[in-house]
Amino acid sequence: MARLLLGVSGGIAAYKALELVRLATRAGHAVRVVQTPTSERFVGVASFEALTGAPVLTDEFQRDPARGAYPGDTPPAHEPISHLALVANADVFLVAPASANTLAKLAHGLADNLLSSAALAARCPLVVAPAMNDAMWEHPATQANVATLRARGVRVVEPGVGALASKGEHGAGRLAEPAELLAACEEAIPAACSSLAGLRVLVTAGGTREPIDSVRFVGNRSSGRMGFALADQAARRGAAVTVVAANVALPRAPGVGYREVETAAELAAACAEEFPRCDVLLMAAAVADFRPAAPAATKIKKGADAPDAIALERTPDVLVGLAAERRPGQTLVGFAAEHGDDALAYAREKLARKRLDAIVVNDISRAEIGFDATDNEVTILTPDGERPLARAAKEEIAGSILDEVVRLRATASSDGTLGTAPADRAARV
Ligand code: CTP
Repeated sequence: MARLLLGVSGGIAAYKALELVRLATRAGHAVRVVQTPTSERFVGVASFEALTGAPVLTDEFQRDPARGAYPGDTPPAHEPISHLALVANADVFLVAPASANTLAKLAHGLADNLLSSAALAARCPLVVAPAMNDAMWEHPATQANVATLRARGVRVVEPGVGALASKGEHGAGRLAEPAELLAACEEAIPAACSSLAGLRVLVTAGGTREPIDSVRFVGNRSSGRMGFALADQAARRGAAVTVVAANVALPRAPGVGYREVETAAELAAACAEEFPRCDVLLMAAAVADFRPAAPAATKIKKGADAPDAIALERTPDVLVGLAAERRPGQTLVGFAAEHGDDALAYAREKLARKRLDAIVVNDISRAEIGFDATDNEVTILTPDGERPLARAAKEEIAGSILDEVVRLRATASSDGTLGTAPADRAARV
């Protein structure tokens, strides 16, 4: 799953770009579209907006209601510069159809409309799919422009030979088929987007609620943001992701599977089912350690019969239970919200006690990070080290945690200890 920016320039083949968007979104990619003014003569923004589920931009000075965010992403709090934000957030930029005029602009670095400005600002891979009349395609100027782009590392999806738009005309210049365009984009997507390809990732997110009676509960302040960011980033890196979501009020991402739970017991049951088939467990949920021992079936009234105190009982530690059942090939990551100076020492004790591959620690004594904040600042502890991550948006932190998971798995599979409990590992290496 990647963020694909599609630039549509003027040409009859623009209608084929609609099919490309349909294929790309069906494959789980998040797509945004920018159009040149000329392309609007062929296909209107409404069609692309309907298929992508996101606003289409046609002008550099147009405000982007989605603030540069791709479908499934949370828009930033500030208003970014539209053409820069869209391309900065893209994993790949495809220009299809690329007219002769647009190719010439890209080859010469012109930035006179939204599409060409975005292309000039692109740091992600650029793929162009030319489409034009055969005489224009074969003209030495066009061929020289294509050669310039290729030499610069731009991928060119060659136009096909066949019937052209004008009646009776035949030759080279037909836009490649949508499936070929999608394959070219997927090939160009950086390795970071596929580092978890083929893996099944189980994420727990949110906070459990333990009923006191039919309307009240004992809960916690976890919003689920960190868990959802992990799920989203894991899906973007090619994993098949399931989230066990405990009371999370955030939007669900396309391409991610969700199991909704409320209590620690429901979370434990969902995890017990999902865990055996996962390769990576990211246990970000705040699971209640205690629950009311005898929840009332109806609402407790405040009369003379109201209890003075609520008796609590311990809940089982879900993560410890899952770690005891781990099979070779699984990587387990816990999360610890700790207070103050001894945060790392407490977390290191949990890492060992819960037999984890890594634990992500954050200091909840700081108001600007942690619970329900958009940012986080954490340290990833592993049996052999610690990696502090500077304060950043939870999406970015999630990406770094997943990079660490990839590193841990690569190290463990090279020394033959992947999936063995860290405590047993010392004996094997
Ligand atoms: N966890 C769990 N089941 C519980 C409690 C916690 O699976 N009943 C998991 C959390 O999802 C997290 C990790 O254990 O990944 C650490 O959670 P934390 O609440 O910090 O750990 P506790 O063992 O409950 O420690 P504390 O004594 O600090 O509450």
